[in-house]
Amino acid sequence: MAESMKGLKRTHRCAELSEVNAGETVTVMGWVQKNRNKGGLVFVDVRDRSGLIQVVFEEGKTDEALIEKAAKLRSEYVVAVTGTVERRSGAVNPNLATGGIEIVPRELRVLAESETPPFPVEENSKTREEVRLKYRYLDLRRPDMQRNLMMRSKVATLTRQFLADEGFLEIETPILIGSTPEGARDYLVPSRIHQGRFYALPQSPQLFKQLLMCAGCDRYFQIAKCFRDEDLRADRQPEFTQIDMELSFVDVDDVIDVNERLLKKMFEEVLGVSVPLPIPRMTWQEAMDRYGSDKPDIRFGMELTDVTETVKDSEFAVFKDAIENGGTVRGINAKGQGGMPRKKIDKLVSFAKDYGAKGLAYIAIGEDGSRKSSFAKFMTEEEMTVLIGAMGGENGDLLLFAADKNKTVWAVLGALRLELASQMGLLEKDDYRFLWVTEFPLLEWDEEEQRFTAMHHPFTMPMEEDLEFLDSNPGKVRAKAYDIVLNGNEVGGGSVRIFDPEIQSKMFEVLGFTPEQAQEQFGFLLTAFKYGVPPHAGLAYGLDRLIMLMAKEDSIRDVMAFPKVKDASDLMTEAPTAVDRKQLEELGLEIAEVCQEKSEG
Ligand code: AMO
Ligand code: AMP
Repeated sequence: MAESMKGLKRTHRCAELSEVNAGETVTVMGWVQKNRNKGGLVFVDVRDRSGLIQVVFEEGKTDEALIEKAAKLRSEYVVAVTGTVERRSGAVNPNLATGGIEIVPRELRVLAESETPPFPVEENSKTREEVRLKYRYLDLRRPDMQRNLMMRSKVATLTRQFLADEGFLEIETPILIGSTPEGARDYLVPSRIHQGRFYALPQSPQLFKQLLMCAGCDRYFQIAKCFRDEDLRADRQPEFTQIDMELSFVDVDDVIDVNERLLKKMFEEVLGVSVPLPIPRMTWQEAMDRYGSDKPDIRFGMELTDVTETVKDSEFAVFKDAIENGGTVRGINAKGQGGMPRKKIDKLVSFAKDYGAKGLAYIAIGEDGSRKSSFAKFMTEEEMTVLIGAMGGENGDLLLFAADKNKTVWAVLGALRLELASQMGLLEKDDYRFLWVTEFPLLEWDEEEQRFTAMHHPFTMPMEEDLEFLDSNPGKVRAKAYDIVLNGNEVGGGSVRIFDPEIQSKMFEVLGFTPEQAQEQFGFLLTAFKYGVPPHAGLAYGLDRLIMLMAKEDSIRDVMAFPKVKDASDLMTEAPTAVDRKQLEELGLEIAEVCQEKSEG
């Protein structure tokens, strides 16, 4: 039976106690981690979010009834203990913050009992994630999850304080809105009052933050929930959080400046990691050429080398055809991997094929200078020597080549570079390397739809020097857009916005919107811009991704309290769920028969 905590008041969290408190009478409350009964001597570890403290029930020091009560405690019972802090009489535990002390109790109350939990509440759980997520409240009791949540809270608090000091106003924007143009699929909410109509949940506060600039708010920020109905991955959730901001009367450098100082403060205060400023910048073109990625991991080298010129006269059809079709040949040098067994190289080839390669040509150079190559027979000895030279190939190196359209070559070698680095153990989680990637292309050609789409969103400002190409060669236009990249992850992105109506109409035209369509979708923004719009720019971080990297986790699910799984369902609440017929009637909705079977099944 549960006892009341009446008359007791907690004085400390468990691990807030130390030798300094020796001799004091304290009261702690928490969960029983474990209970060791040595006959007349019972050790109980009590846990709360701060950590553990050992309570010792010992004959002679503690009332016998209390020892008996302690012996009956089981894991995850909630208890209150009052007693005296003493230096440990037995062995000191150096692995525990409170390892030098213990509590000698004079009162023990059981505030709640617990059934045997489905998995042990302990650090580094080996429990399957599905089970952890079904009982998330138990999973979150584990010290590593508690640390992640505490870190997340600290980052949010520090961000609020920093941005407030920099003159930003925290303003909430609505969740029930019309569609936003971030390019993912919307989550829709049916309207009861306007049957047959739908709200969309925001993919980001983009349009509203631009309207706040029109409203004269000058600097806005929000820790905002965003919703995107995308396929999920380790770094993607349907519902995630942005640190979102927008600033008036600024250009690229101003946004970068305030954000560099924010990141520096965050990493110093939360992790004790110093971030040297300025953070390096790289144009999108350079990032693609050197790393085959618009979010390069610069913790290690293994950069791409363009060998198109070197091999253009060779007879190797794979290279020749690719170049004739307007493509390139590029390679990477995996230093010291020349001895890789054939089977492992074959795995790299199929890995490359997963990224769209037709094949992967290689030269493996032995420590003794001997060579194994998949295409030597198509090349002269001299051509091979020149190619190896161009790649900086030395004894013991593995050279890998992709020949194709640039887009494919980049995708393949960019991914291969990361795969090799991971195999070679080059990815240090506590080596934090930030990078700004700038001058993104404004537009992307959509093969399927046979038209340009905005790479960031339709309100991103083209670079002034490229404006002249907006008509003649839109694909060439670069944008005033920037991403902040950390160890190969896009942790944030933003842009300077278009505030000139003429450029905006031109942009819509290039994107294939008629003026009527533009008016229909974004009319309220375009109208707002007619009444004095200040130059403005902004950025948004993916908070979950940032915390994932700071906490050295591999999945954003481990830094979100209640995440969803791959099929976008919640294993604990079982959302999405079926709803009453009455609810549907009120909304004027009917479930098609095909879906009905699924939702009932
Ligand atoms: P963007 O679409 O680049 O820009 O989003 C900003 C950042 O949000 C994170 N992110 C995600 N995190 C988890 N799960 C997802 N599904 C997900 N999608 C995006 C990424 C990304 O860098 N309104 C603009 C910002 C601006 O222009 O100011 C925007 O939303 O880390
Ligand atoms: P093949 O003549 O098809 O046997 O190819 C010879 C070598 O070139 C093999 O190692 C293939 O994997 C490789 N290869 C084929 N297509 C490409 C390509 N597009 N880029 C790089 N290597 C390729």
